[in-house]
Amino acid sequence: MNRSKYIAFEGLEGCGKSTHVTRLATALNGLATREPGGTEIGAALRATMLDAKNTSLSPRSEALMMAADRAQHIQQVVLPAIESGRHVVSDRSVYSSLAYQGYGRELDLESLRHFNSWAIQDVWPDLVVFIDVPLDALLERLKKRELDRFEREDRSFFERVLRGFHEMARQEPDRWVIIDGSPPKDELEVTIRRLIAERLSI
Ligand code: TYD
Repeated sequence: MNRSKYIAFEGLEGCGKSTHVTRLATALNGLATREPGGTEIGAALRATMLDAKNTSLSPRSEALMMAADRAQHIQQVVLPAIESGRHVVSDRSVYSSLAYQGYGRELDLESLRHFNSWAIQDVWPDLVVFIDVPLDALLERLKKRELDRFEREDRSFFERVLRGFHEMARQEPDRWVIIDGSPPKDELEVTIRRLIAERLSI
């Protein structure tokens, strides 16, 4: 029998992750969840971290708040679902911290890996689906909305984050799949479903 799987979607803002998290979780009869903000405690942390008024929040505090959100999420949501035999599909994971706080904010990657690994009780996603969209398309889309604290970062920040995601995907090819995010949603959904079946036999 297949053990339940923990699948994470990663990508930059507005790449379409959330739609596919919902669709895949429905298809697998699994649990859709997210980081940050997948728990009540996490929602409070998320509000603080995303609030554009919090310009004084330091990179290290931000990294620890992300890790705290994640510790709560793994303990309260991910582990119970896995233990009850459900698949978990999460909008972002520990890899977002390595990409944003590590590559983006340029905090030490080894330290981030270490305390995040502790925060998640060493429960890493079985598979990471990275939805790749061109940075220009993303920046164009951001012009049209009210921006949160992360979205106010400059182009070079997002370039570093994107490079981080690609580097991590290269380092762990068995755990990562990169998907071109440009096709229409329905087409992408079929591709994702096929990849999940191939990689995880579910
Ligand atoms: P998210 O809700 O996924 O935003 P979006 O739907 O716009 O992609 O994530 C909120 C923000 O938090 C996003 O800008 C990325 C950032 N983030 C980190 O910096 N580190 C992390 O570990 C996580 C999970 C998210």
